[in-house]
Amino acid sequence: MQKRSMLVTSALPYANGPLHLGHMLEHIQSDIFVRFERAMGHEVYYVCADDCHGTPIMIKAHNEGMTPEQLIEKIGEGHRADMQGFLINYDNYYKTHSEENRVLSSKMFETLKKEGLIFTREISQLYDPVKGMFLPDRFVKGTCPRCGAADQYGDNCEVCSATYDPTELKNPYSTVSGATPVLKNSVHYFFDLPKLNDFLHEYVNREGVLPPEMAHKLDEWFKQGLKPWDLSRDAPYFGFEIPGTSDKYFYVWLDAPIGYMASFKNFCDRQGIDFDAFWKEDSDKELYHFIGKDILYFHSLFWPGELHAAHCRVPTSIFVHGYVTVNGAKMSKSKGTFIQASTYLKHLKPECLRYYFASKMTADPVDLDLSLDDFVARVNSDIVGKTVNLASRTAGFITKRFEGRLSESVYDHELQERAASIMDKVCKAYDSRNYAEAIREIMALADEANRFIDREAPWVLAKQEGTEEKLQAVCTQGLNLYKALITYLSPVLPELYAKSQEFLNHPLPFNEAGSPLLGHTINSFKPLFARIDPKAVEAMLEDSKQDLKTQAAKTPAKAEAKSAPGDSAETEENGFIPLAPEITIDDFMKLDLRVGTVLSAEEVEGARKLLKLKVDIGLGVRQVFAGIKSAYKPEELVGRQVILVANLKPRQMKFGLSEGMIMAAGEGGADIFVLSPDTGAKNGDKVH
Ligand code: 2FM
Ligand code: ZN
Repeated sequence: MQKRSMLVTSALPYANGPLHLGHMLEHIQSDIFVRFERAMGHEVYYVCADDCHGTPIMIKAHNEGMTPEQLIEKIGEGHRADMQGFLINYDNYYKTHSEENRVLSSKMFETLKKEGLIFTREISQLYDPVKGMFLPDRFVKGTCPRCGAADQYGDNCEVCSATYDPTELKNPYSTVSGATPVLKNSVHYFFDLPKLNDFLHEYVNREGVLPPEMAHKLDEWFKQGLKPWDLSRDAPYFGFEIPGTSDKYFYVWLDAPIGYMASFKNFCDRQGIDFDAFWKEDSDKELYHFIGKDILYFHSLFWPGELHAAHCRVPTSIFVHGYVTVNGAKMSKSKGTFIQASTYLKHLKPECLRYYFASKMTADPVDLDLSLDDFVARVNSDIVGKTVNLASRTAGFITKRFEGRLSESVYDHELQERAASIMDKVCKAYDSRNYAEAIREIMALADEANRFIDREAPWVLAKQEGTEEKLQAVCTQGLNLYKALITYLSPVLPELYAKSQEFLNHPLPFNEAGSPLLGHTINSFKPLFARIDPKAVEAMLEDSKQDLKTQAAKTPAKAEAKSAPGDSAETEENGFIPLAPEITIDDFMKLDLRVGTVLSAEEVEGARKLLKLKVDIGLGVRQVFAGIKSAYKPEELVGRQVILVANLKPRQMKFGLSEGMIMAAGEGGADIFVLSPDTGAKNGDKVH
């Protein structure tokens, strides 16, 4: 087999908060891939870093009474501990706020400029006159122009889901200082992405670069036409100053992916590895980025665009995954299912989650549900019941009766053959990141192995006269099947694999998973893996709720809101929005709520939160702009019945007329839950 050489990365987590299980999905996915490719004998470098720049980090540091440098250091320590805790084996976990990254980012910018791909344009934005800074949307709050709820963010209302431009807010205020923002002009630097249209279109459609549904998604963007990308931000900003300016900084997303290069450069310089060999235009090395589907645009357009323009190689593939849901729903802070990596590790072993994620993970960018009951059942059944038990049921006899010595020959050749025969399928599955398929193959073998032990019943043989040889042979066979299973599982369960090598007293190379150990002395069996106690899961959920309270106490966002102009009564209490003032039945009867079916749903160009829906409410078809994009994909809504506020005054938005409102529950963001009637309701039915 030809030895391949590759560089693998995961998306760089922001250094503004702890990692959660959503992050861990990606790091576990990439770590399994890397461990497998290394086991195949390939040269694999694996790097990541913290993404350190941007306004939120600058403001958080300020609020916590630290410099941004101190904050990113503190957060970085936590991130590194979490990675280690989950057995994620990066060669280098660096930070984007580094000298290597500053140099590489500046070089990239200069090259883009030389290539005629940078232009400047004056834009108008909300500005905090007290703090002297431009305000990203999330740092402006005010009264919702539609429902009048106080303390709503600059781009959407969490009470009525309306979306708007921050300039439309009533009584707007800056959450940084409380001051009323003003509009101010400033010159920004733009990356002329449209000039790279043809190259990028060809690139994203190259075989293997992206999962097909992602390439298809990008096609929609190409149809709408690529837009120039604003890559500068005005001072004050925590980032790298743009060369030749004194008050302009690179937008965090300019230097973030260059952070992949910078982390690798930092590693290469220490290890004497040829950095350029991996990044030159005609590099024969492979480059793989693991990312979530939310950052597809940056990785498949901006990043390859920059690399191509700078005469560097482009990524071989961009591996895109979906989000983690818990018990079938988006991770929710109030339910305790927004689980931090460190909270998980306080209660459960990393390999349990690694295994569970792997058992459900494919190369498709679909969401993965951590169903907690299923998690406990599957780990206990597969790892403990089917795999480790195989060793615990046989090792004792070998130790006690044969001084740890395995038989000289194979007992059941067919079964041993079968253990070797899944190698190709397992390898193909790992290599194509279809870990669920690999686990299915391995567990099918585990089932056969257990049937073998049940059939041969060594505990019965042990009590009979004259069956010594058979007992040794059956147990040897059981242990060799265990050896095969744990070797195949080694990319997923590295700790159990290491312990198993110690127990079997032999190295277990991947390519020899199916070869039996014979005439060899093993060490005595010690418990290798404990079952999950469901109480540990409950304790983790309880702890997660506590984490939320501690964080809420530390997060000054609410305090800012209260100290700012506006009605502080609208703030949350114990995680719940206080009840609105009482209404009469007559007030309620003014609402005309109707059942409708979503005929079509699509994204809206230029709107980050909106989906455009066409809803058939029996009496006709309504067009509705709903602020639910953060929680739903358009295709999830088509065909679904919803409840529409049908007599809401139509509202002319900049994207078109909105003729009603879809009802939904939840806190906003990922926690939006669209309401539906029970089966049987007809379009046009009135909701009483
Ligand atoms: O979305 C995020 O969490 C970003 N910090 C990912 C950056 S990935 C890379 F481009 F740096
Ligand atoms: Zn509102």
